[in-house]
Amino acid sequence: MTDSLDTPGVPVPADQQEREAEITRRVLESFGDCTDPRLRQVMQALVRHLHSFVREVRLTEQEWDAGIEFLTRAGHITDERRQEFILLSDVLGLSMQTVAVNNEAYGDATEATVFGPFFVENSPEIELGGDIAFGAAGDPCWVEGTVTDTAGKPVPGARIEVWEADEDGFYDTQYGDDRMAARAHLFTDSEGRYRFWGLTPTPYPIPHDGPVGQLLAATGRSPMRASHLHFMVGGPALRTLVTHIFVRGDEFLDSDSVFGVKESLVKDFRTQPAGTPTPDGRDLGDRSWSRVRFDIVLAPDGT
Ligand code: BEZ
Ligand code: FE
Repeated sequence: MTDSLDTPGVPVPADQQEREAEITRRVLESFGDCTDPRLRQVMQALVRHLHSFVREVRLTEQEWDAGIEFLTRAGHITDERRQEFILLSDVLGLSMQTVAVNNEAYGDATEATVFGPFFVENSPEIELGGDIAFGAAGDPCWVEGTVTDTAGKPVPGARIEVWEADEDGFYDTQYGDDRMAARAHLFTDSEGRYRFWGLTPTPYPIPHDGPVGQLLAATGRSPMRASHLHFMVGGPALRTLVTHIFVRGDEFLDSDSVFGVKESLVKDFRTQPAGTPTPDGRDLGDRSWSRVRFDIVLAPDGT
């Protein structure tokens, strides 16, 4: 018996190790003639890592079955509104790792975070100072800031998409009807400024009534996301930024289920008691509201 390099702590006889390595070699070779070099690289690396995983944990056939069954259930629950595979990627930190690899730090450019499954195309356009709620429930939140490049130059006409859950923790798409609420897009003014009314973000669980929820429960993990407001911001010759802002003091900042929190994205949402005059003179009656500032810096395209 010798200790396998692939299986720390699990003794595997040398001839068995050789048989296992031979399978990996043959599969790698099967992709050797792939004429697309990138596809070849990705597939061979995937095979190396998958085989190494199986050998490291000495995966049993029952566990392999359970894995296939899990993925099958993820497929069955997925449709145009529910994407269980993105959720799986999110809770495994795969989404955030891909974001990290593809959004290298550039000067003081605003950091990116996970996209999530709730963005939809064709959100309504609002004027500067408009309201994204469209009937969604929640405390009003005044959001304002600027969009600049990394040289500090304002970006006029930058397109800003914003979307968020309502106070019950649901996105419009989760209601199963055709409503569009708590989402919109707007454009910065000639000095790169923007402002709008959103909803004060509240924490919510990622959808956890499917296989990913069962995985979280089985491993003692919470499905909760820290309160946040999503942004996607783009401008000419600038890298499109997909990010959120988080609420300082939120109880889930350190345990966000999809690992999306970055310190630079945690902002002060200042609560304003009912009756406090609003920035645009809007009359909110006896409702309290909040306000936050988020200045966005975009990296150059191609960085
Ligand atoms: C979201 O923030 O909307 C989200 C992100 C990842 C998984 C589920 C939801
Ligand atoms: Fe979200």
